[in-house]
Amino acid sequence: PLVTTKNLLLDAQNGHYAVGAFNIENMEMAQAVIQAGEESHSPLIIQTTPSTLKYASPSLFFSIVQSLAASSNIPVAMHLDHGASFDQCCQVIQAGYTSVMIDGSKLSFEENIQITKKVVETADCCSIPVEAELGTVGGKEDTHEVQDKDALYTNPERAKEFVERTGISSLAVAIGTAHGFYKGIPKLDFARLAQIQEIVSIPLVLHGASGVPDDAVRQSISLGICKVNFATELRAHFTDACRKILVDPDVIDPKKYGAAGRDAVKEFVKERILVCGSDGKV
Ligand code: 13P
Ligand code: ZN
Ligand code: NA
Repeated sequence: PLVTTKNLLLDAQNGHYAVGAFNIENMEMAQAVIQAGEESHSPLIIQTTPSTLKYASPSLFFSIVQSLAASSNIPVAMHLDHGASFDQCCQVIQAGYTSVMIDGSKLSFEENIQITKKVVETADCCSIPVEAELGTVGGKEDTHEVQDKDALYTNPERAKEFVERTGISSLAVAIGTAHGFYKGIPKLDFARLAQIQEIVSIPLVLHGASGVPDDAVRQSISLGICKVNFATELRAHFTDACRKILVDPDVIDPKKYGAAGRDAVKEFVKERILVCGSDGKV
């Protein structure tokens, strides 16, 4: 069934595992993620970014996920990833989304608090949990490019104040991950994450997990990460599998390469679920 991220993340926090949050771009990717969750008996979060919501509407993506979730025996939440504005958060909630992120990380601390608080107050009315971000995840997410050298890590004291003043349900932290793939092996600031976890009691979120070694993901989960976001690797696996089929010029049926992409994403998501430790939890 369709659920909010509230209890998914609190259960993960209590059980010391994380729920994978998987970015989808089409119906096949939605099917793949939910099939992987069913076969692994794992809770799931499916999410779309603002650029994905320009490709097709929130209500269209929501209809696909709702239909799949309704006939599934695992809990599935539908989340707005990197929500860009108050209006956008309201729009997806009206479309049926059960969770939103407002990303004010590019704003000043006070402006970030203001916009986040406003989203929390409104989302609260429909019992929709809100994720927000403090500090900057590196790399490119959607159209917004962050220079690695400008990427500011989350300050633990600031994080505590931010959570208290906004009333958010989960906090995305910047500890050295970046969106997309990495040039070398990313170095995560685990000491900082441990400090954040010590003084912030709500579930923490890791962005930019594509390209992060499995051990580093596991270690961050042991330090309070309850939601891990995977986007780029799903797109890469989908497209690589399609491309292999499409080298044959006789292929004309979209079902043929769509099914290959879907299978590849499903296998990848099953592996990520094992790294998150959410298998067998439902
Ligand atoms: P990756 O593209 O590195 O997996 O990052 C995912 C993410 O943080 C989506 O918000
Ligand atoms: Zn992200
Ligand atoms: Na990444």
